[in-house]
Amino acid sequence: MDLARPAHRPKGKVPHAPEARDESGAGLHVAIIMDGNGRWAVSRGSSRPAGHIEGARTARRIVEAAPQCGIRVLTLYAFSADNWNRPQREVAMLMRLFRRYLLSEVDRCIANGVRLTIIGRRDRVPGEVRKAIESAEAATSEGRTLDLRIAVDYSARDSILRAARRAADHHLSREQFSRLLGEVEHDRGPSREVDLLIRTGGEQRLSDFLLWECAYAELYFSDILWPDFSAKDLHAAVAEFHARERRFGGVPAAAAG
Ligand code: FPP
Repeated sequence: MDLARPAHRPKGKVPHAPEARDESGAGLHVAIIMDGNGRWAVSRGSSRPAGHIEGARTARRIVEAAPQCGIRVLTLYAFSADNWNRPQREVAMLMRLFRRYLLSEVDRCIANGVRLTIIGRRDRVPGEVRKAIESAEAATSEGRTLDLRIAVDYSARDSILRAARRAADHHLSREQFSRLLGEVEHDRGPSREVDLLIRTGGEQRLSDFLLWECAYAELYFSDILWPDFSAKDLHAAVAEFHARERRFGGVPAAAAG
């Protein structure tokens, strides 16, 4: 990263406004913690892998629906660094599923203008998955309708720590640090501020997901288990987001006079 490069800030922006926030109407960054696959499967008398398979189908439907909801960047939490602690069989099944998803979604992504990027570490995923990641990223790199980022072997704390180690002594601005964070996560640009974070499955926590980028995110928790989450539910979450007033530490617009 070129630390001397001045961070881009569009004219007329408030100097202390969070970086990379979409103020231009160009589209939202929505991040989703897709929770509840296991419970969905067990409640139907199936095994947990069946829930993940159905979860991948839901991911496909939500990716398709995202642009109509005004979403320009969609980040899905597919596998956390702590998920390596799951039973080995489940981990192996998830890795096979990611590879299959990447191979099968490429044509659809190209047809729909979706640029696919995997964020997170790459040195611990199986070689076959790494190859599928690289080829999906290369094949979809021209997509301009939706930036689909899938977090695999991802830990926000780990990313921040690695970026901070690299940044030591450089006195970076927030924007420069965001670029560095994007780099350590293998993202293709600076890490982007999240507008709306959705978590399905009834739990209400962040689970080490996009901690830097969610500094001013609106949080939306749904009891729906991920395999049952529909395009209609996504629309409802985005509608609630638009009904909220975002103040970024300021005062309500009405009170500002
Ligand atoms: C959390 O539910 C879900 C995961 C750890 C895996 C997420 C994976 C998918 C949705 C499928 C693949 C998706 C893509 C985009 C390739 P859980 O298993 O913790 O559910 P539980 O809380 O009910 O046990």
